[in-house]
Amino acid sequence: MTKSLDESLSYFKDKILDCIKSKKSIFVTTHIDCDGLTSGSIITKALIRAGANCTVRTSKEFSKNVVESFKTDSRDFHIVTDLGGGFASELDSTLGDNWIVLDHHQIPDKEIDNQNVINAWKYGIDGGVEVCAGGMTYLASMALDEKNSDLSAIAIVSALGDRQDQGERKSFTGKNFEIANTAKEQGLVDIDLDLLLVGRETRPLPDALAFTSQPFIEGLTWNRDACLSLLNSSGIKLKEEGRWRVPAELNEEEKRQVIESITKFTSGKNATEIMSELIGYTYTFPREDNRSFLRDGREFSTMLNSCGRINRSGVGMAVCMGDRNKILREGETILRDYRKMIREYMSILSNERWRISESETCIMVNGEDIVPETMTGTISSLIAGSPKNSGKIVILRTKGEENTIKFSSRKSFGCNSDINLSEIMRAGAEKFDGIGGGHNAAAGAKITKDKLDEFLNYLEVNVVNVSSTSSSQ
Ligand code: C5P
Ligand code: C5P
Repeated sequence: MTKSLDESLSYFKDKILDCIKSKKSIFVTTHIDCDGLTSGSIITKALIRAGANCTVRTSKEFSKNVVESFKTDSRDFHIVTDLGGGFASELDSTLGDNWIVLDHHQIPDKEIDNQNVINAWKYGIDGGVEVCAGGMTYLASMALDEKNSDLSAIAIVSALGDRQDQGERKSFTGKNFEIANTAKEQGLVDIDLDLLLVGRETRPLPDALAFTSQPFIEGLTWNRDACLSLLNSSGIKLKEEGRWRVPAELNEEEKRQVIESITKFTSGKNATEIMSELIGYTYTFPREDNRSFLRDGREFSTMLNSCGRINRSGVGMAVCMGDRNKILREGETILRDYRKMIREYMSILSNERWRISESETCIMVNGEDIVPETMTGTISSLIAGSPKNSGKIVILRTKGEENTIKFSSRKSFGCNSDINLSEIMRAGAEKFDGIGGGHNAAAGAKITKDKLDEFLNYLEVNVVNVSSTSSSQ
């Protein structure tokens, strides 16, 4: 029989206490994105606090090879976070009972009764929006010791990184909401309704306005000069002590002036929609320095994503686990490099039109030889975020290592397709001996190169040529 969430968490606790008592070493394997780095850090920190002997590493995906590597590993017990869905039977046969998966990805039915799989969906929790791996590891850490409630702050960063802030005005729902409230009660986070400009703590005001693409404001988004002149004419002070001011420094009156100028600029056109997207909940960590990229939850999550995506996961984990010395400088450089790379890839993709094929409901993008494998998710999310692609499904592909092709798919804003991308990617990959899965609106797959044509045909039939329905999701 399937355990309840509480029963599973206490099962987890018993297993860990047994490891500690019998001096078994624990190996944590986690994903490279923001949710992976945060969940890996949360559980590792809780294990260290509990006195466990443990080490942690990251992996860009989970596969039979990763399970194989466990076979020869000298460590006794394995915890897998933000990865591992669909591999329960392999883990059982390789590791016996010495493993636990803490995750939020959709899993095949056959895994529901496996007690070592502690996955949100089993407990009626929507792992797409109500909790992510960071939240699941936070719950596990609380089962070990309630003193771990300070880790709730990092769990907020996970949920922001996985874009689970999908409630009204970018609020959280479900477990995420509860976790954010715990952090708030402890004074670890301030949750405010504010202007949602990208780079709240670090970007000069005109850049922040220009880089904010949700909402997309015709004439302002991506146009720094226009943003600068709008802000100048609004009368607010843009510089202070010889440096640019950042959005977090605006007072209430100045925010009102910015809103008024934007409304004037758009001559009232779509004003209600623009304002409803421009104002939402912000998550600020008051213990971090002003103008640090760790102070705003969304900027923190971008920094972590950038670490994993350019193979510097260790830096991101160190920051999550509390390192605040030289490592912060490294984080800043990584974030800068990451943003530059994104601009380069996006510019090539938009110039080389042959890479893009579009149907009424879907955009297929060939990113081979341009987009590195680790960046496919970032780039497909960005393409899906562009207003000209709204309503469509985006599928980006690129080359992976060892003759593989990696696919990353996203539903864009306003996409009302009934297709569940997680199911499409998992079933398709399985059909052609690959691996795939994820969420309804964001999923990926990997196949070998020789299966590419067949896989593209499969997508053609099951996604590209499927007309969208009017049902909402
Ligand atoms: O592996 P994982 O669940 O952590 O990754 C989910 C990915 O999907 C994240 O990169 C997140 O930003 C992206 N996502 C998205 N749009 C959504 C939900 C998730 O781009 N609506
Ligand atoms: O790689 P990408 O960001 O597109 O992945 C989207 C989502 O699909 C993530 O949550 C990722 O963990 C999941 N995924 C998966 N199996 C794969 C590839 C991606 O579960 N083979």
